[in-house]
Amino acid sequence: MTSSQSLSRIEWTGNSCRLLRATAAEFARTQPFRGLTIGTAIHLEPKTVALLMTLRAGGANLVVTGNLNSTQPDTVDYLRAKGIEVIGGQTQDAGAHGGFIDTLLAREPDLLLDNGGDLFARVVEHPYRALLGGTEETTSGRTRLLPMREAIGVPVLVINDSPIKQFAENRHAVGQSLFESYMRFTNRSTNGKRVSVFGYGACGKGTAACFRNAYSAVSVVDTDPVTALEAHLDGFSTPLREDAIRSADVIVTVTGAPAVLTAADLPLLKDGVILLNGGHVPHEILVEDLRNDPSTTSIDRYVRESIETLNLADGRKIHILGGGHMANLAGVNPLGNSVESMDLGFTLQARCLERVASGKLDKSMCVVPVPADIDAMVASAYLDLNR
Ligand SMILES: NC(=O)c1ccc[n+]([C@@H]2O[C@H](COP(=O)([O-])OP(=O)(O)OC[C@H]3O[C@@H](n4cnc5c(N)ncnc54)[C@H](O)[C@@H]3O)[C@@H](O)[C@H]2O)c1
Repeated sequence: MTSSQSLSRIEWTGNSCRLLRATAAEFARTQPFRGLTIGTAIHLEPKTVALLMTLRAGGANLVVTGNLNSTQPDTVDYLRAKGIEVIGGQTQDAGAHGGFIDTLLAREPDLLLDNGGDLFARVVEHPYRALLGGTEETTSGRTRLLPMREAIGVPVLVINDSPIKQFAENRHAVGQSLFESYMRFTNRSTNGKRVSVFGYGACGKGTAACFRNAYSAVSVVDTDPVTALEAHLDGFSTPLREDAIRSADVIVTVTGAPAVLTAADLPLLKDGVILLNGGHVPHEILVEDLRNDPSTTSIDRYVRESIETLNLADGRKIHILGGGHMANLAGVNPLGNSVESMDLGFTLQARCLERVASGKLDKSMCVVPVPADIDAMVASAYLDLNR
């Protein structure tokens, strides 16, 4: 008789991360983290579990917490059941999140895996001797940590600056996933919609391309004229900022910059416009200012859907997805970026932590890109698995 077993999405995701599984099998033999504690502050969702299990296979003792707003309770339960120490839980409260970071750092981990710079920025204020170095995952974290290089004083490899992460995750996966998020939140179509994408970096390029492929009329706004020219030559319309806001049925921000859309823009917004953010920090759309503006007379909250509608005095309605938090990790059943893109990015993470743990890097390697030989190794391994 055929046996069957019931498995969870965490297990589906883990079994789909073929590169991490192969890396974990190797680490189980080589034990690069034996005797070391790794502290992590990264989105706690199913793909992260695959990374954490890989680090643990390599002998690491783990102490983990999440990022603001994106912690998935099922993931926390799963990790705890596997005996991994998880600090805190889901919160939108920056003060509570800061407390989790402090508790984690009080354990003085040997290595840190950061996502957005919360751990290393805190280490600058409260340094400790045991720290060997670590990794930072994101664009936002790199920008935040660069001015602190001297004060950090240990090797920190920035995963975001690997070409693999740039094209596999930021360009292809973030675009697909923000597009998926728009449909998942709203169940609205993309056909014929005027979509304005703010920011034409790697994430914005993928986002603009995905909406265009889904039959939307896409405009791009980028404050850097050279990048805006690139968007123009890629065939997107590049109206002036105010015109892009005025015409949009959907506005997506993916800049990494604060205050991209503010209360001053309320008079420009079209009735029924949908606003969503894909940038790491929930400060691109100043949602709290939009809510509190005198022209907002009432707010309807579709609580389960994580959609809110601002009703303006002149009758217009403005819909905001996920409170302006990163849409692909917010709302009902957030899926985040595709498994394959994260399998690649997290294998870079695992290999970079292995390199830092080896002690072969000096402190001049602080907030620098992934070494090229690691990129080549990870790319070859992925291609081999897919031939
Ligand atoms: N949602 C996700 O899963 C996910 C994944 C990776 C990165 N991110 C985040 O997405 C954001 C963008 O990442 P990226 O790698 O594309 O960054 P990037 O630096 O490559 O590109 C950002 C672009 O935005 C432009 N810009 C800056 N301020 C602007 C403004 N006010 N209006 C219009 N354009 C403006 C810049 O000129 C630049 O071209 C970051 O916050 C990053 O951390 C999110």
